[in-house]
Amino acid sequence: MTAQRAAELFRETFGEEPEGVWSAPGRVNLIGEHTDYNGGLCLPIALPHRTYAALRRRDDGRLRMVSAQGDGLVETSLDEVGPGAPQGWAAYVAGVPWALARAGHEVGGFDVAVDGGVPLGAGLSSSAALECAVAAAVSDTGGLGLLDSTRGRADLAAACVEAENTVAQAPTGGMDQSAALLASAGHALLLDCRDHSTEQVPFDLDAHGLALLVVDTRAEHALVDGQYAERRDSCERAARELGVSTLREVPLEGLDEALSSLSGDLLRRRARHVVTEIARVEAAREALRADDFERLGELFLESHASMRDDFEISVPELDTAVTAATGAGALGARMTGGGFGGSAIALVRREDADAARAAVEKAFADRGFTAPECFVVSASDPAGRDL
Ligand code: GLA
Repeated sequence: MTAQRAAELFRETFGEEPEGVWSAPGRVNLIGEHTDYNGGLCLPIALPHRTYAALRRRDDGRLRMVSAQGDGLVETSLDEVGPGAPQGWAAYVAGVPWALARAGHEVGGFDVAVDGGVPLGAGLSSSAALECAVAAAVSDTGGLGLLDSTRGRADLAAACVEAENTVAQAPTGGMDQSAALLASAGHALLLDCRDHSTEQVPFDLDAHGLALLVVDTRAEHALVDGQYAERRDSCERAARELGVSTLREVPLEGLDEALSSLSGDLLRRRARHVVTEIARVEAAREALRADDFERLGELFLESHASMRDDFEISVPELDTAVTAATGAGALGARMTGGGFGGSAIALVRREDADAARAAVEKAFADRGFTAPECFVVSASDPAGRDL
């Protein structure tokens, strides 16, 4: 998965040179899950894993797309793109120029070859990486200049969200695209999804003798299935019943009493996760400012328990990863991303990383789960041009 490989695929497929190659990273969220569509806070980092897009603009509105992970060329044209069309991975590509055009930008067609280096179905935002790599390419080749400012990058992220929500029809909340476009190396991105403001929070674990271990459980998750949408609906229903525009408006103080008016225990638990999770993001920012990694670890564990018990988005593989990593000395661990499979993260002392990985692998083997993929990551660069 390199820029050169994407360029080579472009040449093989289209018989000419791409104008350039752009890429965008996957993400892990440190904390703040299912808060983005509730106007809340989250704290993702960009991964070193990236998806590449080699692209050449066309002036006839045609879109020709090939993927190193797909099977053959997909062709459509800008005026055929819309809700549910095209289907599959091409939706995340073709949806981007469609959304940029709807937002008033001058965009044409293109030929593109993509090569994904973000594990698929692992809850690490391979779809956002794909959208954002294409968005970066479309911006530069079309002279839109949107990569040059935070504001422009936020506009690109919004177009990618629109592509995902409307064309790919996954009702996600926007954290992933913001992470891919706005995160920076050595920092976590504090995203306030109420006013879309961002803050770069220093996150250099290496300097503190620590490491972030990602456990891809291989329990495959999918955001287009009904569970994610169901959680989102519950949150919106709870907000309506409470008479607020989003759950962000519900204070932590007196929470149980405030939630007692909700119709049923299920809604109460869903809302409690969101409100307490937003508070944990704030606490995590304070912990990072104070270099208090023990506290960050505790917050990871509290967050995981809340997702397991109140929001009910964990699965046995994720719980096993968290328990095994913690048992092997991790300061804390939690599932990350949408849930129902995907990945967990563990905050470990560098010298404990191998033991934590071995403990997770053993626990998975003991329970007869598919072997997980474990890797250490650091906060990496956002979307940009490679070649
Ligand atoms: C997925 C979605 C995000 C966010 C997370 C949960 O990654 O794409 O918008 O809602 O789940 O925090």
